[in-house]
Amino acid sequence: MNALAPIAVPTPLARLLADVADAARVPLAARDRAMAAALAPYLGDPGLLEGRDCPCNPDRYTRHLLHNDPASGYAVVAIVWAPGQMSPVHGHRTWCAFGVQRGWLTETFFRPDGDIALPTTCLARRPGDVCHAPADPRAIHRLANLGTQEAVSVHVYGVAFDRFGDGVNHVWAA
Ligand SMILES: [Fe+2]
Repeated sequence: MNALAPIAVPTPLARLLADVADAARVPLAARDRAMAAALAPYLGDPGLLEGRDCPCNPDRYTRHLLHNDPASGYAVVAIVWAPGQMSPVHGHRTWCAFGVQRGWLTETFFRPDGDIALPTTCLARRPGDVCHAPADPRAIHRLANLGTQEAVSVHVYGVAFDRFGDGVNHVWAA
């Protein structure tokens, strides 16, 4: 009698990345929405980042690369936020989608006013919440961890990881 080979069960992260790869083939005008829909079923699963080392940096919020696809032009990162850490006030040079994995974040929206950005709205983002936006440097927001526990979010941006330095955030003065 032959022994049966064990069946490899895809991890939640592998399934998320497969769904993200499918979303990367959606026409550009709808890709950010498709990416948010791809993330949503997995966020909040405590096993999503199991085996991935995503340490918190006490000095600043930290991106950890989960998947880079230069050929298709996107990358997936987990961002770890210590209490009190926040992004700059920024718009995006590329489409983006993100959602909260653990903890909660505050998303503040701004409107351009000359050379600066003024806050308009503030929303709480909880585990499982997803958001998305097309490339638009004048669609401005800031993410912040105003809670007392570490927070983790998962983001997909429409550039390869080596272009994150100048290809993602357009930073505004607020
Ligand atoms: Fe952003």
